[in-house]
Amino acid sequence: MSKSPPILQRFDPAGERRRVGRVFLVGAGPGDPELLTLRAARLLAQADAVVYDHLVGSGILELVRKGAELVYAGKEKCRHTLPQDEINALIVRLARQGKQVVRLKGGDPFIFGRGGEEAETLAEEGIDFEIVPGITAASGVSCYAGIPLTHRDYAQSCVFATGHLKDDSLNLDWDNLARPRQTVVIYMGLGALPEISRQLIAHGRMPDVPAAVVEQGTTHSQRVVTGTLASIPERVAEQALKSPCLIIIGEVVALQQKLQWFDAGAQEAPKRAVSA
Ligand SMILES: C[S@@+](CC[C@H](N)C(=O)[O-])C[C@H]1O[C@@H](n2cnc3c(N)ncnc32)[C@H](O)[C@@H]1O
Repeated sequence: MSKSPPILQRFDPAGERRRVGRVFLVGAGPGDPELLTLRAARLLAQADAVVYDHLVGSGILELVRKGAELVYAGKEKCRHTLPQDEINALIVRLARQGKQVVRLKGGDPFIFGRGGEEAETLAEEGIDFEIVPGITAASGVSCYAGIPLTHRDYAQSCVFATGHLKDDSLNLDWDNLARPRQTVVIYMGLGALPEISRQLIAHGRMPDVPAAVVEQGTTHSQRVVTGTLASIPERVAEQALKSPCLIIIGEVVALQQKLQWFDAGAQEAPKRAVSA
């Protein structure tokens, strides 16, 4: 294992040595705590304060140092987070108190995670920061669902898009997304799924191209619904899937039947049944 991050110390104008705060923007992965990086686990065990989002699983929070301040930045009920400027102000304030702050975010901080906005604030405010990548939902969820995002026979490119833009519009580059032999992964697209399906078909993607929606991927509540681009909105409505859900569209989805390996209902995932 690599060394722990050094605790920074500086001298204030009176010549006193004081601890300097620092913020770690850390990706927590898509749900399964086993998917956390070693770096993330080490930082959680050393943190003075942890500011976390609602997509961060409770198993991950168990790794936080006892006595650390835990701040919840998400409102699970109404499924939106604290206003971004309040979160920015909070992490700056905690760092100015000399704390080692872990800002823990679902998946990867730089993929639809607003990590860029938070890092910009820290840079502008002159706060030391570090960014720790995490396994993004597209990667973790597709693996646990048995859907390879690329495959030499089916998909030569893969695009990640959001189904929820900042201004609530769904003004995506449909011509680009509808290209053949390409896997399209859509984050935050559950509510807009009927529109996404309509637009992709209208822009040339075949209605019978396979599609999947994965709810709570990588966790023991994972559900996978498959169909075609044309049928998937109805299938998802029948199964009443709820957020968080990831949409995967492309020929690779046809492999899901053959490659599914993760038994979400099992007490222990197969990978943990293997003894050392
Ligand atoms: C605000 S984005 C955060 C993405 C995150 N930064 C990442 O890299 O995965 C939240 C969206 O990610 C997707 N997502 C995150 N975790 C998921 C999971 N375990 N299963 C399915 N989708 C997930 C869903 O589309 C959800 O609405």
